[in-house]
Amino acid sequence: MVVLGRAIREQPRIFAVAVSGSVLFGLMVIGSAFVVGAVVGDVVVPAVESGSVQTGLLALAAVTLFGISVLRVVGIFGRRLGAGYMQYRLQAAYRRRVTRRYLELPLSWHHRNATGTLLSNANSDVEAAWYPIAPLPFAVGTLVMLVGAVVSLFVTDWALALVGLGVFPALFALNVVYSRRMAPRQARAQRLRAEVSGIAHESFDGALVVKTMGREAQETDRFAARAGELREALVSVGRLRGVFDPMLEALPSLGTLAVLVVGAFRLRQGAISVAELVSVAFLFTVLAFPVRAIGWVLAELPRSVAGWDRVRRVLDATGEMPYGDAVLDPAGGPATLDFSDVHFSYEPAEAHLPGTEVLGEVTFAVPAGRTVALVGPTGAGKSTIASLAVRLVDPDSGTVGVDGVDVRRLTAASLAGAAALVAQVPFVFDDTVRANITLDRPGIGDDDVWAALRLAEADGFVAALPDGLDTRVGERGTSLSGGQRQRLTLARALAGRPRLLVLDDATSAVDPRVEAAILAGLRSSAGEGSGSAASILVVAYRRATIALADEVIYLEQGRVVARGTHVRLLATVPGYADLVTAYEQAEVEQTEQRPYDDEEVTPPLASGLEIEVDR
Ligand SMILES: Nc1ncnc2c1ncn2[C@@H]1O[C@H](COP(=O)(O)OP(=O)(O)OP(=O)(O)O)[C@@H](O)[C@H]1O
Ligand SMILES: [Mg+2]
Repeated sequence: MVVLGRAIREQPRIFAVAVSGSVLFGLMVIGSAFVVGAVVGDVVVPAVESGSVQTGLLALAAVTLFGISVLRVVGIFGRRLGAGYMQYRLQAAYRRRVTRRYLELPLSWHHRNATGTLLSNANSDVEAAWYPIAPLPFAVGTLVMLVGAVVSLFVTDWALALVGLGVFPALFALNVVYSRRMAPRQARAQRLRAEVSGIAHESFDGALVVKTMGREAQETDRFAARAGELREALVSVGRLRGVFDPMLEALPSLGTLAVLVVGAFRLRQGAISVAELVSVAFLFTVLAFPVRAIGWVLAELPRSVAGWDRVRRVLDATGEMPYGDAVLDPAGGPATLDFSDVHFSYEPAEAHLPGTEVLGEVTFAVPAGRTVALVGPTGAGKSTIASLAVRLVDPDSGTVGVDGVDVRRLTAASLAGAAALVAQVPFVFDDTVRANITLDRPGIGDDDVWAALRLAEADGFVAALPDGLDTRVGERGTSLSGGQRQRLTLARALAGRPRLLVLDDATSAVDPRVEAAILAGLRSSAGEGSGSAASILVVAYRRATIALADEVIYLEQGRVVARGTHVRLLATVPGYADLVTAYEQAEVEQTEQRPYDDEEVTPPLASGLEIEVDR
């Protein structure tokens, strides 16, 4: 009911059109019953009795019936058009709202919600929520029609009215029982739909793993099992329909039969005329179908409610990050970044579990124009720090500041303009190279794009692409190598001229020499203007890269264990020395096996490294 009320509130005008159409239709149906009755009573019966037809009356009846039919057609047209418009408009509006909400919700919310479910929320749940809209105006019109029918029954004859009062509530009750039994089945089917879509999404997404690990059969089985459950659920919906539909169909016919029996009796008593009996019997026959409309709405309601609940969960989801209204000077030089006593825990997968602290007492600063390297074993919390720095997530306590301003006080645009993150896993859109770099941000011309590509050491391979900047790179950049993808995303960050650059292992798939060259280039891109263009926080493993940093922050299990220059840490912190050396060994072995260049290379924090570190 809430859903329907909301629908009416959102589209009141269209709803009014549809309901008027439907009410017009209903009144015309009742009208036609009485005209037919009158024709039989006043024309046909006298004609049979006297043997002569009153042509004038017959013509009048024909014209009236024709007029009624035209109005009925108009009614149906208005109802159908209105209902269709209303349903599809609502669906479109809510699809937009849901997807917009996805983009507003913070990363922490997305961590807890599977992509497949999100797709199904935006698609079939929105659709299901507004399913009953299509028959709703019909149902409302039918209610009016039923009231009209009962009133005209009472006007005609109380005995016949009692038959009507018996049949209509019975129809109603049957419909209610029907939708009650249907509700859990529909909800289950809806949930399984989401799960099936989730599994499909996951296996397509992980196609590489599925294929290389030879998991095709298991994935197919996993999908088939769930698809089988969905089929069972839908079949049970169908079975229920099979039982109830004939009953709903038969009840009005039984009503007509009862009317004829009672009516014949009343006719003999002289309480009613032939015309009236025919009208009432006709009324019952024509009412049978529209009454079903109420059943449709009731039957779709549970599914709609289930869909609406899921849609509302998205729309009402909290945890949205409020932004402040402070603005940083966009023309200022390199920005400072400081973490002060930052604690952070990821929200637990299930609400009742405690979240484990991933970062604790993290305090460090990246002074303006400086490069700070973040080093630590896998799982130490480096990516988490990177996410905090650009405010993908907020700390539990402590503050993250850019240019001395708490990032929570900044506007979204100001922070996005000042700080750029190049993530550990590069994401490339299925679009041209140019579009991937500019992302439609204003003021980035081709010259800027090339400059950014040069800094990211990506100008060479882009120039060699068949259409240069206009080359499409395929879904998720499948036509590029891992290293090329990384450099493209780096260029994307650089094109926005960030004053703070956060590189989360952003060049791991790039040749070590090139990686060092990129960082050196970033540091001295400075030379072109006044002072260094950006302050840099870089998550890195390679000695050559780390050595370029002004300071190294060494992290273990979410705590800053040591800080200082690379050389000092190497000499004084055994864990650090182990990590860097282990990494170097892994690197050497890998390079011996195959040269880096532009092949797809997984970041070499292979298991061997972890063992080295953990000992
Ligand atoms: N979305 C998440 N939900 C829950 N826990 C997470 C999530 N992301 C990371 N973690 C946990 O937080 C800790 C730190 O992860 P983080 O990704 O910051 O490590 P990292 O230092 O970047 O590691 P790597 O070198 O492997 O990239 C890990 O213990 C990890 O299991
Ligand atoms: Mg990481």
